[in-house]
Amino acid sequence: MARGGERRRMIGRGDHDGKDKEKGMLIAGNWKMNGLSSALEEVDALVRALKAHPAGCDVLVCPPATLVSQAAARARGKIAVGGQDCHPQPSGAFTGEVSAEMLRDAGANWVIVGHSERRQYHGETDALVATKAKAAWRAGLGVIVCIGETEAERNAGREEEVVDRQLAASVPDGAAAARTAIAYEPVWAIGTGRTPTTAEIARMHAHLRSELTKRFAAGGRAIPILYGGSVNPRNAKEILGVAEVGGALVGGASLKAADFLTIIESAPAGH
Ligand code: 13P
Repeated sequence: MARGGERRRMIGRGDHDGKDKEKGMLIAGNWKMNGLSSALEEVDALVRALKAHPAGCDVLVCPPATLVSQAAARARGKIAVGGQDCHPQPSGAFTGEVSAEMLRDAGANWVIVGHSERRQYHGETDALVATKAKAAWRAGLGVIVCIGETEAERNAGREEEVVDRQLAASVPDGAAAARTAIAYEPVWAIGTGRTPTTAEIARMHAHLRSELTKRFAAGGRAIPILYGGSVNPRNAKEILGVAEVGGALVGGASLKAADFLTIIESAPAGH
């Protein structure tokens, strides 16, 4: 069986080496706790559309865990499928949890960890998020590590301090572009219809790039930094055009194939 990296390359994802302009952005949909089996029709619609008009970027859908296996079976190599969270352990007496190995076994290529909703509603700490990221790598999955400040933190001018702490403590040593992406999701922009200005996004992404490069040297230059928080078909082109934005993590607007496709088509070609 192909390893995670090879699998991802099969769906068109390269190593995201910043110097190689052929490598595309990553446009990821996080369905959160939405979607019964009827939602698989949206996967079918995406796959059909991408078959007719191949995307100039890598496309990932993260449905609820109940749909991962069926979504992966229907993805037909046109999209990657991911989980929204994983437990640090591969198996054991952890009622209700899903391991990275289980996601991989169900056909996932990726998993999101450290989403602000997990941090907020489940008390997830940076240290726990880091163990989950390592679990993803252990299982052969790529990992999207989410970071982002609250509105109060931004109003206090602490946004860089907050993301620096999250980046340092939730992204384990050994992060590399082939298996890691960062999602900058300001908490106040999630599900609110509010986004930072493009200048604010540019400033934050440049800052994150500099932190990644300080820590991971050349490897840190290639790790994609996705933006997330109220990305929609109307603002996607502008946001995806911002320097150092390597893709998007889309919530609500990823639930309908037509909207998600518009966002996918907004990704600049040859990024
Ligand atoms: P919305 O796109 O619905 O704001 O959600 C963003 C998000 O949290 C993706 O992980």
